[in-house]
Amino acid sequence: MGFEVKLRQFDTTITVEPGDTVLQVALDQGLDYPCGCQSGNCGSCKSVLRSGDVDMAVYSEFALSDDEKASGLILACRAMPTSDCEITYLEPDEVVSHPRRLLDCCVTELTDLTHDIKRVRLSVDAGGPFSFSAGQYAKVSFGDLDARDYSMANLPDDSVLEFHIRAMDGGDVSHYVADKLKVGDKVRVDGPYGVSYLREAHRGPIVAVGGGSGLAPIKAIVERALQAGLPQEIKFYIGMRDERDVYMEDAFKALQAKHPNLKLEVVLSEPSGETGRRTGFLCDVLKQDFTDLDGAKAYLAGPPIMVETCVAALETLGARREDCHADAFYSVHELAEQEAS
Ligand SMILES: Cc1cc2nc3c(=O)[nH]c(=O)nc-3n(C[C@H](O)[C@H](O)[C@H](O)COP(=O)(O)OP(=O)(O)OC[C@H]3O[C@@H](n4cnc5c(N)ncnc54)[C@H](O)[C@@H]3O)c2cc1C
Ligand code: FES
Repeated sequence: MGFEVKLRQFDTTITVEPGDTVLQVALDQGLDYPCGCQSGNCGSCKSVLRSGDVDMAVYSEFALSDDEKASGLILACRAMPTSDCEITYLEPDEVVSHPRRLLDCCVTELTDLTHDIKRVRLSVDAGGPFSFSAGQYAKVSFGDLDARDYSMANLPDDSVLEFHIRAMDGGDVSHYVADKLKVGDKVRVDGPYGVSYLREAHRGPIVAVGGGSGLAPIKAIVERALQAGLPQEIKFYIGMRDERDVYMEDAFKALQAKHPNLKLEVVLSEPSGETGRRTGFLCDVLKQDFTDLDGAKAYLAGPPIMVETCVAALETLGARREDCHADAFYSVHELAEQEAS
């Protein structure tokens, strides 16, 4: 026997069977419920439980803090009702909505950006038009392999899609891209997804942080902010392990020369030799560079540990959690492990 869940904003009631999540049933019914990761990691489905009870499957502290939970907030993607409920989602600060598309694409260009990051450019042959906001990602299928999440690195109005894909040790899809993908191959792109996109109406300072191939969505965000003429200071941090991992620096320096509000900082965490660059972990660099980030917005993408430590640092500096828009690049196995634990 299912439970009746009233969704205020949609002015409708859905029936959720025991063990099913509110978000899954809402999406299955074609409701445009705000969501991103669908695995309890991004916080974009955060909702108010107005009445009733739910069990919550495992989720990250970043997505929902203990204080938020105690105040009656839940994550719709983790919430399994145990009684009839009434739920409202938190209105996102700046809602953008793009229709989800299933695109037939073709590889037009493959470039080694570093020893382990490939730039993949795709033409959209069918299924478009594809619109998205800078910072969003898509589920990309190469060959017969399962889809993986990859963030668009191109500006939303570019006709060609661009992805930066790092070959991960033991990784199926990223190694296929590194070793087997060819110009002319067909690729399926499903999206856009995600809520860590540029808030174009915001006028406070911007802190943009990209680690490794996490530079892809942050590149799109920074370029779009400048294209849109946002006037505020944009501090753009690129975090890499060593000199050989740094890419596109010249292009970003050229942007900086054109836009005085852009300040670029490349930081190496494990330099193998002498370096004139800043070194250390990005979370420590942020603490050195800022004293008060109240009113700022931060955009972060890259390895989960980098994203989590940087968000924690930003919060200690006064940034509000809801102003930290972050995509941690969890693999499907990490997500499955979290799910099982
Ligand atoms: C929102 C989002 C955006 C992303 N954007 C990008 C991007 O722009 N660029 C990018 O490079 N990446 C991005 N990622 C990461 C990307 O989706 C993939 O996770 C990554 O490319 C690895 O995929 P893979 O198939 O190569 O590795 P997988 O085959 O999924 O393996 C990943 C890791 O798990 C290990 N593993 C394999 N099998 C198991 C198992 N059974 N149990 C435990 N561990 C196992 C592997 O050894 C490997 O280290 C993003 C992730 C998210 C969530
Ligand atoms: S969609 Fe629920 S936490 Fe990401």
